[in-house]
Amino acid sequence: MEKIAETEALLLERIAQLDQPRDILKAVEIKQLYARLPSLDPSERGAYGKRINDLKHTLEQAVASIETEKDQAASVPIDVTAPFDVNGSLPSLLATERGTIHPLTREIARLRGIFARMGFVSEESREIDDQFHMFETLNFPAGHPARDDYDTFMTLQRDKDGEPFVAPAHTSTMQHRILLKYHANLEAGEPIAAVVPDRVFRNEDLDARHEHTFYQVEGVYVARDVHAGMLIATLQKFLEEYYGKSLNVRVNPFYFPFTEPSFEFALSCPFCEGKNPDCKVCSGEGWIELLGCGMIHPNVLRAAGIDPEVYTGFAFGCGIDRLVMMKYGIEDVRHLESGKLDFLRQF
Ligand code: DAH
Repeated sequence: MEKIAETEALLLERIAQLDQPRDILKAVEIKQLYARLPSLDPSERGAYGKRINDLKHTLEQAVASIETEKDQAASVPIDVTAPFDVNGSLPSLLATERGTIHPLTREIARLRGIFARMGFVSEESREIDDQFHMFETLNFPAGHPARDDYDTFMTLQRDKDGEPFVAPAHTSTMQHRILLKYHANLEAGEPIAAVVPDRVFRNEDLDARHEHTFYQVEGVYVARDVHAGMLIATLQKFLEEYYGKSLNVRVNPFYFPFTEPSFEFALSCPFCEGKNPDCKVCSGEGWIELLGCGMIHPNVLRAAGIDPEVYTGFAFGCGIDRLVMMKYGIEDVRHLESGKLDFLRQF
């Protein structure tokens, strides 16, 4: 018993010198104590064994308390109100780097600003919508083949018509709501003029030009006597402001269910201005097909209670990621949402 007490004192002292206090539980002295068991009188063995167990228990408690102490010492409390680099004690990343605004967020703010100066209010889209807004009010009746062009993510939840809710595949999903919300403008002799720069989702095969999550800006303008010349001039002005230079634009006929006539709108390459046959942005074509647009279909106006005999309007939908990629010569759209700091630090 004396030997056990001696070992206990010795081991308790030794713990403090160990890098790994837990190693004390494997100390050879404990094994030596056990080794003496067979040589003891059988009547003494029970008490002897119990005393060794007590010793181990004492050591375990000592180890646990040292470990807790070490943990506490390792976690330096952070004073969130302190200025940068207090005593150099913050990790260097925190101490020396400030975050920056994500390039897409900054470009969206920029284009909102341009449209605001042109008289357009800015609205938000949503991340879940119903097919009534995404298709029906836009003159795609149920079963319309153009619904398939939108590679739409469906959810398992169904709306009151029994249709799955969707992750909207275009910002046009907000058109009907905008026409309703600003309806009173028309009676007051004011136009409806709104843009919706926001996120959209498509079940795409991903590559350098396609992401499942990307951004569009929708534009809607309705008043008396609106014509296609106003649409083209508005878009040209917006793009020239955004790129800070004069640009040529080209308009070709196209098809969307919600506009008639519909156009595909191209602009002269803002990166090489049509001068570089090896340009990585326009592949030397000099032109970029950038967006869809057209005169709002009478059925879309009617669905929102607007008389198409009295009012006409234009709408457009433009991919924001592509605008930004062309501005900075970014070759892969996936960089934008990658969270890669090396990429983001360039902006
Ligand atoms: N929503 C269309 C798309 O994502 C783009 C578009 C085309 C929007 C014409 C419009 C428009 O408002 O008038 O492919």
